Amino acid sequence: MNKALFAVTPLMAEHDRPFFRSGYDSLDRYLREQVSQDIRRRVAACFVVIENENRIAGYYTLASASMPLIALPPEKQKKLPRYPAVPTVRMGRLAVDQGFQGKGLGAALLANAISRTARSEIASYALTVDAKNEHAASFYQHHGFMPLPSNPLILFLPFAFLK
Ligand SMILES: CC(C)(COP(=O)(O)OP(=O)(O)OC[C@H]1O[C@@H](n2cnc3c(N)ncnc32)[C@H](O)[C@@H]1OP(=O)(O)O)[C@@H](O)C(=O)NCCC(=O)NCCS
Repeated sequence: MNKALFAVTPLMAEHDRPFFRSGYDSLDRYLREQVSQDIRRRVAACFVVIENENRIAGYYTLASASMPLIALPPEKQKKLPRYPAVPTVRMGRLAVDQGFQGKGLGAALLANAISRTARSEIASYALTVDAKNEHAASFYQHHGFMPLPSNPLILFLPFAFLK
């Protein structure tokens, strides 16, 4: 896949979901069976990269969220107002089909999610992710995310750093 050519679009009915295989059954099943309902109920938005006749090469989901101020590292708390929680956007899922892994698509989807959230008119302090395991957490750390002190499988990327 030519990185310069692929486009990230909202998931649509004609996109081919049954053949997506990320290596994690829960991520594949979510795309097959659950995501449409979540979109209809407005509890998640789903964005995909399409390759060859509606085949999905990768996807991610985003939803509004919030994080208790005390969950953040003390040096980050000091720079924020004393509200009980800060607004965030949560990337609930990120997955690339096995046929496309290791080609930069995961990084490109992550960059797309960051820029989509950072340019929103609705303010959020950070993009947060729930990593499935340490391997996934290390992917996010490689891309600048920081783990929460109380749970290293929840990571965040403050948008103020991007400016
Ligand atoms: C994790 C996943 C999204 C990565 O996507 P990918 O397309 O295979 O990864 P990329 O080719 O975009 O990798 C981009 C960069 O991240 C690095 N990277 C990839 N996986 C990594 C890992 N587990 N730890 C550290 N770095 C990692 C690559 O070395 C590459 O680095 P570089 O740009 O400095 O050369 C993909 O492998 C996947 O879908 N896995 C199964 C589901 C999953 O684990 N989802 C994570 C969310 S819970």
